[in-house]
Amino acid sequence: MESDKIFSPFKIKNFTLKNRTGVAPMTRMSASTDGIPRQDVFEFLVRRAKNGAAIIYTEAILTDYESAQGYPGQARIVTQKQIDAWKPVVRKIQQEGAIAILQMFHCGRMSWPEVNPAGRTVAPSGIAPTQDNPLTQSPYPVPEMMSRFDISHVISGFVETARGAIEAGFDGVEIHGAHGYLISQFLSWYSNGRDDEYGGSTENRFRFFHEVIQAVSKVIPKNRLLMVRVSNWGIADMDVSLFESKEDYQKTISLLSLEPVDAISVSTYEYNQPAFGTDRNMARLTREMTDLPLLICGGIHDRASAENALDDADIILVGKSLLLNPDWIDDVRADRDLKRYTSEEAAVAYTPEPLP
Ligand SMILES: Cc1cc2nc3c(=O)[nH]c(=O)nc-3n(C[C@H](O)[C@H](O)[C@H](O)COP(=O)(O)O)c2cc1C
Repeated sequence: MESDKIFSPFKIKNFTLKNRTGVAPMTRMSASTDGIPRQDVFEFLVRRAKNGAAIIYTEAILTDYESAQGYPGQARIVTQKQIDAWKPVVRKIQQEGAIAILQMFHCGRMSWPEVNPAGRTVAPSGIAPTQDNPLTQSPYPVPEMMSRFDISHVISGFVETARGAIEAGFDGVEIHGAHGYLISQFLSWYSNGRDDEYGGSTENRFRFFHEVIQAVSKVIPKNRLLMVRVSNWGIADMDVSLFESKEDYQKTISLLSLEPVDAISVSTYEYNQPAFGTDRNMARLTREMTDLPLLICGGIHDRASAENALDDADIILVGKSLLLNPDWIDDVRADRDLKRYTSEEAAVAYTPEPLP
């Protein structure tokens, strides 16, 4: 039956997902100086698995102590204590029949010196975002252009974090290449003004992502997943198309297809919006270039939008609706009338009160 697509299984490498739904990665800013999220934030993830989501993503986890951090209260997974804190959470998610994926990122020019232990802000080029930091309402600092040494140091942070995730039992990791953070800054014509082999052509701007993927893939066992996330929008670059053109985007997707990745996750503001002046949405433009499993996210909030989004992708990820409604999967199964939540409503993610 066509309408059962949402609840049909999907095979991704050696995993069979029980359905096509997942909790999108969502930062909660709940960690104290130990870099470990609050207990209720862990329990929130387990409850979404219990409700029936097939994939549970963590919030974006920082990749190093030097310059990665962009928000207060972010988590890391490089000390034994941090790794041990995630172990029971991962186990419980798996016991509920879901897979657990750790997302990792470096904020690059969107890092925030005040909360960054080393107080540095590094990026492909010395170009600051034009928008203000949404949390402080003040301008971002002009970043230091990354040297070759910085590049290899930052890549080691991704590798160490992936090792931590594997040690904690995660089924896989996702490298966050979206939303205008460091990898996205290298990919984008808008923030990458380098004239060395990391800047200029699409292939050159892709080089940093390639090096991160290659290095991380070496520490991911064959029976775990390596995923990547991309987007054409950035948190501090809201009015900008981060990819210069459809050709630039599709070339990047075809380069990603040659990498040892198991799935591509595409983040949009609105999954069905036509992109790059074409009549096709981001999922369709991605699908044209790759046979890899494809995840889509953005504005999916009820059964109709979930089904519609699955016309062009294999899996839907849901952010705000799964943040604010712990029964969302059951509600979709029952085809209940479901509201669309706003970003303002989602800001509750950052308060100390536990979410249901
Ligand atoms: C509170 C909150 C935190 C988020 N944190 C992250 C994050 O850590 N990593 C990420 O890739 N996206 C993050 N996002 C974006 C979501 O993953 C998702 O792409 C976005 O909310 C659009 O999906 P939706 O319309 O279903 O909410 C966050 C969104 C929200 C609402």
